[in-house]
Amino acid sequence: MKIVVWDIPTRLFHWGLVLACFTAYITSRTERFLELHAVAGYVLFSLIIFRIVWGFAGNKYARFSHFLKGPKEVLSYLSSMVRLKPHRCTGHNPAVGWVVLFMLSVLIAITVTGVVTYSGEENKGFLAGYFSFNAAQYAFILHTFIAYAFIALIVVHVAAAFIHDFVFRENMILAMVTGSKEDSAGFAARSVPAETHVKARFARLAVFLLLCLLGGWMLVSFNLASVLGSKRTSGSHAAVKVKDDKGVPRPFVVNGLWLSECGESCHSVFHPTLLPEVSWKAVMAGLDEHFEDDASLEPEDAEEILKYLISNSAERSTSEASQKILWTLPEGSVPLRITKTPYWLKKHSGIKKDIFKRESVTSPSNCAACHRDADTGIFDDTQIAVPD
Ligand code: HEC
Repeated sequence: MKIVVWDIPTRLFHWGLVLACFTAYITSRTERFLELHAVAGYVLFSLIIFRIVWGFAGNKYARFSHFLKGPKEVLSYLSSMVRLKPHRCTGHNPAVGWVVLFMLSVLIAITVTGVVTYSGEENKGFLAGYFSFNAAQYAFILHTFIAYAFIALIVVHVAAAFIHDFVFRENMILAMVTGSKEDSAGFAARSVPAETHVKARFARLAVFLLLCLLGGWMLVSFNLASVLGSKRTSGSHAAVKVKDDKGVPRPFVVNGLWLSECGESCHSVFHPTLLPEVSWKAVMAGLDEHFEDDASLEPEDAEEILKYLISNSAERSTSEASQKILWTLPEGSVPLRITKTPYWLKKHSGIKKDIFKRESVTSPSNCAACHRDADTGIFDDTQIAVPD
């Protein structure tokens, strides 16, 4: 006789989780899909919250109280497993009950570190600006590490499901789709003495696992961006956020004088967040010899511009570019050109010299030629397009 073990919400949770994890994995392969990756993360988090609630409110088999067993039962189940004669369990077996709880906790850790990374590094998400760039770097390392550990857990989980299905004939995978399993009597009638078929079943299992391995390898080498070959064309990005005196992030504001004096009159403006305060002070102190030009300003104009540059310097910016430029500057150095900072040089080392000489580019300092979002100060990966 069939009995309903996995109720509909539990099944929706399970397959929703699979879908969200899969999406999160695929979109993590390239920064271009970071926003989609974040959406997958939020969905994942909501699903986990739901599952925790359902662990108290769901049907008998979905409840934590049903599947979290004491050490005695866990050990006894494990030893039956080692002897290749696992006790038959209708819901989660005593060993896997704890694994379920562990997987949920790991997923919570992944989403929390993800939110901190997204907030601190990209200044996006519902906690945008609350975490520093430094915090985000640590969070990101954890996020990546835990995510890979979780992939390993998934592999074990799927392999275990196959073993239960192919070797012990428990029909577990289909049960997560249809929700129903055989009751104990039905199972006993169908499962002829296990030993006789164990070899054949292990062989079938091996073929299956091999196929999974192949699929997994294809997945790892899969790059969504290159498949779609797409570059996002539009994308109205907000400007970077800059911290005020109290350290509270505020949107970047364009100063009219700065724009007209430093932008329209001579060259395209460089975003103030790309150099540290000391650099802007040095640049503004040497305006009479501003890169071989006399760019002297009225003293009060110079003062206003300097004040503006300082209040928007790299130290105050929360953008990834600013932080990485600062990080990689040798101690005590005062770069006068953005294009001489180690970070800039490293990021552009792969670009051939003649590309910068193209008519559409003319010089490395023409940031906007290749970075559609140069005037926002963000320099997002998705906004790079080197012109012909
Ligand atoms: C000829 C085109 C070109 C010009 C001009 C150019 N860049 Fe870039 N920039 C690129 C490309 C291509 C990359 C991506 C390199 C990579 O990731 O391998 C990049 C990467 C970057 C990054 C890192 C983005 C990230 O998140 O990985 C920053 C920041 C940046 N550029 C800033 C600037 C600034 C500031 C200027 C002007 C002073 C500038 N670039 C001028 C082509 C250009």
